[in-house]
Amino acid sequence: MKVLVATDKPFAPEAVKGIRDVIEKAGYELALLEKYTEKSQLIEAVKTADAVIIRSDIIDKEVIDASDNLKIVVRAGAGYDNVDLEAATAKNVCVMNTPGQNANAVAELALGLMVYAVRNFFNGTSGSELLGKKLGIHAYGNVGRNVARIAKGFGMEVYAYDPFLSADKIESEGVKAVSSVEELYSTCQFISLHIPATSETKQSINKILLSNLPAKSVLINTARKEVINEAEMVSFMEERTDFKYLTDIPPANNTEMQEKFPDRYFSTPKKMGAQTAEANSNAGIAAANQIVDFLKNGNEKFRVNK
Ligand code: 3PG
Repeated sequence: MKVLVATDKPFAPEAVKGIRDVIEKAGYELALLEKYTEKSQLIEAVKTADAVIIRSDIIDKEVIDASDNLKIVVRAGAGYDNVDLEAATAKNVCVMNTPGQNANAVAELALGLMVYAVRNFFNGTSGSELLGKKLGIHAYGNVGRNVARIAKGFGMEVYAYDPFLSADKIESEGVKAVSSVEELYSTCQFISLHIPATSETKQSINKILLSNLPAKSVLINTARKEVINEAEMVSFMEERTDFKYLTDIPPANNTEMQEKFPDRYFSTPKKMGAQTAEANSNAGIAAANQIVDFLKNGNEKFRVNK
């Protein structure tokens, strides 16, 4: 059996070593395709693989159909919007993610971006503090929970909105539950986005929703760029000169945003929320273990396609 690690954005070396240990201990072969620049390289590498570990790498129908032996794709991370689930199901390929494994890393970055925002992008001017401020967590999953935990350490008042969780469940973790997304945005000066990119959520962060935000608010996006309505974000920022937007995923209009709002807009150059040695090892080794357990025992616990 051949397990391919295909990562345009490579894992830390210790994570690759950990993955190799798991795969070789199981008696399988590990193939590595890192920092590839052409889709054709991925297609070529997938051809002979039985299993693939990826990150945000695009696994579309063409890639899936190019494979002769592929049985499983594991997205070492949370979001699997980069995998064509239908094409995988049609070829009887199991798709999994590794929920929670990189959540702390993303959450730490979200708080780091909040500090960067309130300290005026470290430009030397007098800023403000997070202590006592209201933080709204938009979707209370693995990353949202970690953001709540760390934000409480900063002394923030933490609120959350999640249509898939009961208020009791959220409140049992010491977080105030609100009943609508509008209520979250009108209550909290800080919003941290943790929604996946789905047909319902794409473009859902629009001007009408943002207009609920109180004065001097800050939006942090460590989720996906697709959930933002980019044109309406520009229009909102032009009107609301007190608002800041910091993102870990450069939008299509990154250059325009940088030019128009240099003091109120920031994007990391490449998504780096999960880019820590710890998160790479957690997610990568979990992916390797899930592959071995699937191939040897048929365990489909983390399967995301039907
Ligand atoms: C995720 O969905 O797990 C995060 O967005 C991390 O993505 P990455 O592995 O491409 O850094």
